Amino acid sequence: MNFELKSLTLAQAAQLPVDALLVLLPDHLPKALAASPDALTRLAVLALGDMESGVGQMVAGYKVEGVKAARVVLVRAGDASAAAVRKAVAAGTAALRQAGVEKLALVLSCLPDDAMAVRMAVQASADASYTYTTTKPSAKPRALKRVTVAVADAAAVRAGFEVGKALVSGVEFAKEWANRPGNHATPTHLADAARALGRQGGIKTEVLGPKQVAALGMGAFMAVAQGSAQPLRFIVMQYNGGAKGDAPVVLVGKGITFDTGGISIKPAPEMDEMKFDMGGAASVLGTFAALAELKPAINVVGLIPSCENMPDGLAVKPGDVVRSMSGQTIEILNTDAEGRLILCDALTYAARFKPRAVIDIATLTGACVIALGAVRTGLFSASDELADALQKAGDVCGDLAWRMPLDDEYAEGLKSSFADMGNVAGRAAGAVTAAKFLQKFVGDMPWAHLDIAGTAWKSGAAKGATGRPVPLLLQFILDQAATPAAVKPARRKTRA
Ligand code: BES
Ligand code: MN
Ligand code: ZN
Repeated sequence: MNFELKSLTLAQAAQLPVDALLVLLPDHLPKALAASPDALTRLAVLALGDMESGVGQMVAGYKVEGVKAARVVLVRAGDASAAAVRKAVAAGTAALRQAGVEKLALVLSCLPDDAMAVRMAVQASADASYTYTTTKPSAKPRALKRVTVAVADAAAVRAGFEVGKALVSGVEFAKEWANRPGNHATPTHLADAARALGRQGGIKTEVLGPKQVAALGMGAFMAVAQGSAQPLRFIVMQYNGGAKGDAPVVLVGKGITFDTGGISIKPAPEMDEMKFDMGGAASVLGTFAALAELKPAINVVGLIPSCENMPDGLAVKPGDVVRSMSGQTIEILNTDAEGRLILCDALTYAARFKPRAVIDIATLTGACVIALGAVRTGLFSASDELADALQKAGDVCGDLAWRMPLDDEYAEGLKSSFADMGNVAGRAAGAVTAAKFLQKFVGDMPWAHLDIAGTAWKSGAAKGATGRPVPLLLQFILDQAATPAAVKPARRKTRA
């Protein structure tokens, strides 16, 4: 998909050589505009008077006099807030999907210039036209090729437009990999995708295999992988946009390419959805794809422990005790609580980067789906500052999260008679006890955990990856780039 941004009045947009115009109408048209005599503006004024209220309400016109495009869709954008613009563009783009529109103009010229609204418009048009085709040759590929965003003053919103474009790349990268079935997205495939990102420039990718992971002592990660015929991969990506030595943000993504549950096997219904169990990893890859385009001044490290969780003669068994890279031993009481086992070793590994913040992203618990559904990602952090920054990043870009508790009492159930801890703590507060398990491996790093089990994909008829939380992560990183980490005291030169 191609995007361009132009300064155009409504009258000028009417002359665009495109297949369709999607004109966003705020509840209150600017006075000066309402008086303009051109055909499209007259139509807009009339339509607004006739339409029911409500963001996303539409009327369509065909071969309208004075308008070059064959199709005009006028859609209500309510108070013109970024959220309303997103909803309106999503509805309008979806309505035009069937028409096979290749060139679309999103006309925001009647709205106040708002960089976030432009970013949302770009994102929503991509989201509503996305089609997964990789393993479905019969799928009608996305028709939409070129989107022209018309605004009153392009210079005022250019920054939002650029972030929007990068987010489209990042979100679609994440969706693509999360959507691929397990046999088309093995740990090796994921590592290849990470390497391919590395070749784009600006990103360094390193991939560790079973031998190197064993040498590091990642016994918890290895225990999960041992039941699978697919070799594990540990992916290390580095984007160095900041000064050398600046503490990085470290993102750790759960990369279980298929979760059967292992010996504690899952029931058959909906087990196919466990191909999405690498949604955290996909969001890290997607965020790096966006970083490669935007090139913000900050250092970011991406860590992806990736393997399958399979039942097998060699698979780890309930009751087995393993030694994590941290030295702490773990009694694996339930092999289906595998995400925390691969993440704990990755978190230990993260410490070597002396991160300004480490954030793990994981489709970790069904309990989080019960708690928060598909609306908000579960956000856990002992640091108020980091939790607030992530919460705010999500609020700003509409990729919402909700802070959950981490009281020490929640860790009680993790006690084990045979190891330093068990890997499960019963049914109550399952999302929180999983987070408490991870917390045992973060030492004094500023850490946050995002449980995206409910938000990384949609179930049901429209089954598919959402690309979340790439927008939240990118926003957080951009915010961090704007507020430099506490500078290490300069080493004092001793005078001779
Ligand atoms: N990948 C699942 C979590 C999951 C379940 C995500 C359903 C999305 C939908 C995870 O590995 C898992 O199986 N967790 C168990 C933990 C339990 C055994 C303590 C769960 O949530 O049931
Ligand atoms: Mn599991
Ligand atoms: Zn899992």
